[in-house]
Amino acid sequence: MTADEKKTNTQIVVEVRDVYKSYFMGTEEVPILKGVNFEIRKGEFVAIVGPSGSGKSTLMNLLGCLDRPTSGLISVNGHDVNQLSDNELAHLRGMEIGFIFQQFNLIPRLTAYENVMLPSYASKKEGIDYSAKAKELLKMVGLGERMKHKPTELSGGQIQRVAVARALINDPSILLADEPTGNLDSKTGEEVIDYFRKLNQSGSTIIMITHNNELAAQTDRVIKIFDGQITLDVPAAEFIRYMKEGQLTAAKQSAGTEQTAVTE
Ligand SMILES: Nc1ncnc2c1ncn2[C@@H]1O[C@H](COP(=O)(O)OP(=O)(O)O)[C@@H](O)[C@H]1O
Ligand SMILES: [Mg+2]
Repeated sequence: MTADEKKTNTQIVVEVRDVYKSYFMGTEEVPILKGVNFEIRKGEFVAIVGPSGSGKSTLMNLLGCLDRPTSGLISVNGHDVNQLSDNELAHLRGMEIGFIFQQFNLIPRLTAYENVMLPSYASKKEGIDYSAKAKELLKMVGLGERMKHKPTELSGGQIQRVAVARALINDPSILLADEPTGNLDSKTGEEVIDYFRKLNQSGSTIIMITHNNELAAQTDRVIKIFDGQITLDVPAAEFIRYMKEGQLTAAKQSAGTEQTAVTE
């Protein structure tokens, strides 16, 4: 399926409408997300880019049902998260969402295998042999020989691959990854992305935050956030053109020739 076909032919899995999110420092409201709108369809592979502090992780936590918007709508697989109780939210998260955190959050005293099993303790689907599945996933990410190792006995790349396997134990329909390659060397980063691409080809929807424009360019679609607002939402091919033109513009130091692919 081409990126264009995905955009029009398939069901919406994530809907974000006029979302605002503030943090409160004492009584002072600090607005972080300021009117964010987009939708993501089944099978899309989307990169979210933007400078540090622009609100990417805040947005991802909302998509992952770890937090609620201050106002606006977040809908995941047709469920408006503001209409769900905390228990229902936890259930939706456990059943539908795989989350790879910016900090990997493996439990230090558990082995790789036990870390991968962890999400299945809270949310079980009928008829799945989770133990066999955890082993299968660890083999798939190349850690078949490292199942009994604890995080301190693994390299950064191996820890990240455990985090990928853990995010997949419940067959999530949506995989959310917050800078999954941020702590990896470029070769291991490429391996993780290759793996995401395979997953995506088998039907998973993937939303990935990255600082790396080259990686973003390998997805279907790139959403750029700046200061809590979306400033760009384009197919990856257009993002590549946009970057090249940006470089060209900077090189020529001539303002005014830049393509305006800005959505709002
Ligand atoms: N729990 C929190 N309480 C208060 N401020 C926060 C909290 N989490 C993030 N922030 C602030 O919100 C802004 C956006 O953070 P974040 O979403 O983590 O950005 P990004 O992931 O794009 O680097 C930052 O200024 C950060 O300091
Ligand atoms: Mg972040």
